[in-house]
Amino acid sequence: MNNLKLIGPFKQLIPMTGLPIKGALTDEQLVILEDTGIVIDGEHIKHIGKFHDLKQQFKDIQIQELQGDHTCLPGFVDAHTHICFGGTRANDYAMRNAGKSYLEIAKAGGGIWDTVVQTRKASKAELVKGTIKRANRHLKNGVTTLEVKSGYGLSVDEELKMLYAIKEADEAIPSDLIPTCLAAHMLPKDYEGSAESYLEEISTKLFPLLKEENLANRIDAFIEESAFSASQIKPYFEKAQKMGFDITVHADQFSTSGSKVAVDFEAISADHLEASAVKEIELLAKSDVIATALPGASLGLGCAFTPARRLLDAGGTLAIASDHNPGSAPMGDLLTQAAILGAFEKLSNAEVIAGITYRAAAALNLTDRGTLEAGQLADFNLFHTGNYQEILYNQGNLKPCVVFKRGVKIFDKHH
Ligand code: NIG
Ligand code: FE
Repeated sequence: MNNLKLIGPFKQLIPMTGLPIKGALTDEQLVILEDTGIVIDGEHIKHIGKFHDLKQQFKDIQIQELQGDHTCLPGFVDAHTHICFGGTRANDYAMRNAGKSYLEIAKAGGGIWDTVVQTRKASKAELVKGTIKRANRHLKNGVTTLEVKSGYGLSVDEELKMLYAIKEADEAIPSDLIPTCLAAHMLPKDYEGSAESYLEEISTKLFPLLKEENLANRIDAFIEESAFSASQIKPYFEKAQKMGFDITVHADQFSTSGSKVAVDFEAISADHLEASAVKEIELLAKSDVIATALPGASLGLGCAFTPARRLLDAGGTLAIASDHNPGSAPMGDLLTQAAILGAFEKLSNAEVIAGITYRAAAALNLTDRGTLEAGQLADFNLFHTGNYQEILYNQGNLKPCVVFKRGVKIFDKHH
C-alpha cells in the first residue's frame, strides 16, 4: 500500500483555475468538472480526474468512496480577521442598536480601547485558547486559512503577547493562521506622546523583533479620523517596506484617504472601502492592490456594503473576508457574509467564490491554495449537493459536510 488517498466521486468539482485575478467574472467562465476524484499525496493534490479512471490508474490506493451527490470547492481563505482578543463588546452592540453614537459608546467605556483593556488583562494562554476556539469554528465552516491581526495590545510587549499567542494557536491547530501586526490600530489612550512618536517607537522596537522571532510578515494600519492620518502612517509604512514587510491597510471605512496610501505603497490589499467613491474606485481598479470587502463589518455596524460591483466593473479585484472581531463584526461566518454581499451587490457565483478562494489567497500573497489542481495544497470542502449554485443560494446555511486541510480529513458529517 502506498501513501496515496483517493476521494470521490464528486458530482461537481469547481477548481477555480484559469480565471483572471482582476475584473468581473461570469458563471460561464467557471470550469465545472463532473464525476471527479482527487488523489492526495501527503499535504498536496497529486491528481484530479474522473473518479473511475483514477481508481483504475492508481492501484493499491486508499479509497474513500462517497455516497450521494457532492460538490467540491477549494478550502476557503479568510484574509482579514481579529480573532485574538479578550472580553466581549455585546454592550457596544446593544448601545449602537439603541441609537447611541460612536462618541457616546466610547465615553461609556466601549470601542476598540475596551477590547485593548480586556486583551491586556488576558494571559497569553487565555488568548491562545480563545483564538483556537474561534479558528476551529471557522474551520468547521470550511475556512482552512485564516489571517489574524494583533492590534489589541498597542504597546511593544502587549503586541508581542498577542503575536506569540497567534503563533502558538497556529501550531496547535490544523488550519493555517497568517499573522499581521496591527499595532497601528489606534493611538493607545495611555501613551504619553504623539501619534508620530508612538509609531516611531513601534517601528524601531517592535519591527525588528517581528523579523527575528518570525512573528509576522505583514504590517497593517487603520487610516481613519479616529485612528491615524495618511501623513502619520507614511513614514511608518516606509520603514516597514524597507524592512521587507508586506503592507495592508484598513482603508476608507468611514472617510477616504486610506485607499490612496494603499495604492501609493503598492500595498497587497486595501480592506473595508465602504466609503470609497468614484475616485477611490478608479484608483484601486487601476492598481494591483486587492480590494477586500468586509460584509461582516457592514452587518455588525448596520452600514453600507463595500461597492464591490463597481470595483469589479472598473477592472479591480475583490476578496471577501469576515473581519471577525468583538466590536464591528462579531458574527464571524465568512460563507454567510459572502453570500449576503453577493445578493446586495449583485455578484456572480464566480465572483463570490473567487473572493473567498484564489483572490483571497492572493491578498495574503499565497499561491499554493485557493485553486484545486495538481501541486496545490489539499485544502478542500465538500457540500452535500450536486449543484454548486445551491451553496450561495442557501446563504451560508448549507455548511460543508467534509473538510480536508493539508490532505487530512478534519471531519466528516457522514460518520
Ligand atoms: O476592522 N476598523 C477598525 N478595526 C476593526 C474593528 C475593531 C474593533 O472594533 O474592535 C475593523 O472593523
Ligand atoms: Fe479589521
